[in-house]
Amino acid sequence: WPLHLPWIDAINTLKRQRGAVIMAHSYQSPEIFHGVADITGDSLALAQAAADCDADLIVLCGVHFMAETAKILAPHRTVLIPDPGAGCSLASSIEAADVRALRARYPDAPVVSYVNTSAAVKAESDACCTSANAVQVVEAMGAERVIFLPDRFLGSYVASQTDVELVLWDGRCEVHEQFTAQQARHARERFEARLVAHPECPPEVLAEADFVGSTTAMAAWLQKERPERVALITECSMADNLRAQFPAIEFIKPCNLCPHMKKITLPNIHACLADLQYPVEVPADVAARARSALQRMLAVGR
Ligand code: 13P
Ligand code: SF4
Repeated sequence: WPLHLPWIDAINTLKRQRGAVIMAHSYQSPEIFHGVADITGDSLALAQAAADCDADLIVLCGVHFMAETAKILAPHRTVLIPDPGAGCSLASSIEAADVRALRARYPDAPVVSYVNTSAAVKAESDACCTSANAVQVVEAMGAERVIFLPDRFLGSYVASQTDVELVLWDGRCEVHEQFTAQQARHARERFEARLVAHPECPPEVLAEADFVGSTTAMAAWLQKERPERVALITECSMADNLRAQFPAIEFIKPCNLCPHMKKITLPNIHACLADLQYPVEVPADVAARARSALQRMLAVGR
């Protein structure tokens, strides 16, 4: 932290001068999450905040699909991402043509796409969802069968929570797919920890968990349950950020880093504000169709 303080001060000064709002996902490092962000949370919270934002300049500290989502929901704002190369293995697992092929194969099934997709994929979808409301969005489609993409593990978790039949795609989060049931059991048996897992984990890991939920839902669960010891089976910054919020809880860390989230740093946030780089743009026709899928997601809420 002492090394970070000059950057944090400089960013906060520049942020005020620019009238900017900094939004940071739960997987951003603590110096960003606690040091410079005005709004923090899961993908759904950031999308809602972008839709409601009245600042002209938004700096999105997260990965590219999150900045694109913010731009689509706040088309008249400038949305900047400090590193446009911050991708996501789920978003890159599927393209618009794949969605069209799925629709041709299952013409009666509406398409629900996880928000971890490109704007072009969202534009081919009937609705988007996040891990916070995937079950509710699938059920809101009012169909017996739904095409759910691209995360196979989130999809199989949703399928376990609903009677709707899901057609799945084989995308995976490169961070969460690495967790094993053995790691989860080790955390519970060796440390007597409660287990909280993200639904992007494999099913055998989720089967071990006391609670499964989005990153904001994990924080709400801790607030309610106040466990003595917990293992958050997700990206490493999650536990780092919550440790500051819940000093009485001991965090055991079976965790993996997301290399894409970690592309966002204090120096590139500073450069982003100083040089107004890198603006996110979405072609108007794609944005209009993607916006309607995102608005259905926001209408379902949390
Ligand atoms: P949530 O914050 O929506 O749970 O998303 C998890 C994730 O992996 C985003 O990249
Ligand atoms: Fe994508 Fe997984 Fe990284 Fe989230 S944690 S941005 S889902 S690769």
